[in-house]
Amino acid sequence: MKLRSIKEAGKLRGKRVLLRLGLNAAIKNGKVMGGFRLQKVIPTIVFLKKKGAKVIIMGHIGRERTQSLKPVADYVSKMTKIRFVPDLHDKNLPDIIANMKEGSALMLENLRSDLGEVKNTAAFARYLASLGDIYVNDAFSASHRKHASIVSLPKLLPGYAGLHFEEEIKHLSLVKKPSRPFLFILGGAKFSTKMPLMKKFFRIADYVFIGGALANTFFKEQGFETGRSLADEDDFNLGTLLRSKKLVLPSDVVVKNRRSVFVKKPQEVAVDDTITDAGPETIKELKRLVSLSKFVLYNGPLGNYEEGFEKGTAELLRVIAKSRAITVVGGGDTLTLVSALKLHNKFTFVSTGGGAMLDFLAEGTLPGIEALQKSAKRFI
Ligand code: 3PG
Repeated sequence: MKLRSIKEAGKLRGKRVLLRLGLNAAIKNGKVMGGFRLQKVIPTIVFLKKKGAKVIIMGHIGRERTQSLKPVADYVSKMTKIRFVPDLHDKNLPDIIANMKEGSALMLENLRSDLGEVKNTAAFARYLASLGDIYVNDAFSASHRKHASIVSLPKLLPGYAGLHFEEEIKHLSLVKKPSRPFLFILGGAKFSTKMPLMKKFFRIADYVFIGGALANTFFKEQGFETGRSLADEDDFNLGTLLRSKKLVLPSDVVVKNRRSVFVKKPQEVAVDDTITDAGPETIKELKRLVSLSKFVLYNGPLGNYEEGFEKGTAELLRVIAKSRAITVVGGGDTLTLVSALKLHNKFTFVSTGGGAMLDFLAEGTLPGIEALQKSAKRFI
């Protein structure tokens, strides 16, 4: 897939570049946690600054209008200097931008502080467009959203892909021609949204390991008790997938109940139990599968890591990190652990995308990609 790159934009000196970044980092007590995503936004900012552009950074954080990008701006500013403008609709913004030095950058407040971003209103897109001359999307992780800054801005301004965006596409496209054996490991929850992805990978992968809360839905279909565990209620008609020789499910699980935390076989789970993680036998089996695979793709936690059940996911990440296969991992929750375990340099590629990575893998494109492709045709 070829996207028009920012490297092809020609002369940028003095140009006002609206740069959409993936700034949605986890914040605790006013401080950025992890920061993997934010480190990935730096090369494009630096590239544009070096070209003498006036860089106007846009992004969102969380889902509340009141959440501020200030902690993110402080974090980014430690790596490359930027100014933060705390009011998205500051009346002086056009003047502030006009007076910016060539090769400097500022960050606007959370785009979602204006409902027009998520509702993708023409008025909001026009407002943003009035602040720039060209548009750059380096927010792969938000490009599955049909929001104003992702799909409408490139209709109004010439659009280009940022440096990290190109990396995402390049590495995730490897999945189209994977080295074999190809092991796909999918964890997390939300069975219904991940069903198309699972079906797709049953066609293209050699082994499909399903873990996390997704596995509970398979256990149910097998007639096992899943107790109080998270599991989708709908009937997904999983017969064909369950019969597939490619399918690997956890062979043991960590459960908790009012008395304690145990390791059990999935068929032994009782009404009062909650499945919280993959068990040691399962990790051993995953280790075996990883060792015989040439390509490993992993997304989504194996356990309820928010409640502290992160052991299975952490062990799996360590196993994948040691493998000599081509390894691609991604997903918001997985990323937090990758950062915490300091494993970010141990994989062939770590995607910043959660939903975006899954949608790209399932569909082969994203609304943000299509918008850039159309923009390249419209503004030649
Ligand atoms: C993400 O964090 O995965 C992206 O920034 C998208 O965020 P959203 O799910 O709130 O749209």
